[in-house]
Amino acid sequence: MIKKEYITIVKEYETAAELPAEFQRIIIDSKNASMRAYSPYSGFNVGASVLLENGEIVSGNNQENAAYPSGLCAERVAIFYANSKYPEIPVKAIAICAFNKNGFLKTPITPCGSCRQVILETELRFNTPIAVILIGQKTIQIVENISQLLPLSFKKSDLIE
Ligand code: THU
Repeated sequence: MIKKEYITIVKEYETAAELPAEFQRIIIDSKNASMRAYSPYSGFNVGASVLLENGEIVSGNNQENAAYPSGLCAERVAIFYANSKYPEIPVKAIAICAFNKNGFLKTPITPCGSCRQVILETELRFNTPIAVILIGQKTIQIVENISQLLPLSFKKSDLIE
């Protein structure tokens, strides 16, 4: 028997001012995107902003539906939009924030499992790490690539092994 350990490194910051300007820009952009969320059922508003390698920013937010499972998370809206608009351009980072009736969340939320899978596909597609920036009012957390948030993942290469 061998035992393997998978490690996730999370960097924590007190303010956005500690981060590079391009990360600061997508933090602001994700907050603006969250204001445009369509979330009449949950009242939970999520914004996601994607930074591309060419400097472009593409944002999305959660889109809910009366048929609940037909809705989509902010992260997938943003990533799919980025890949559909710029199919040749790698994604460098995604910033995520959320607010509810009590305001922006103090502690950051992390992408759900389905969103992690979709972000991973983009990371592998362009072979470029995607930094995940999780925004809370009290702390900002950064994980330098999505693979660390989805260890033992199922991926394209598994299909042809
Ligand atoms: N949601 C997101 O958009 N992103 C997340 O990371 C977590 C959850 C959305 C889905 C649904 O519209 C609402 O938040 C409540 O789950």
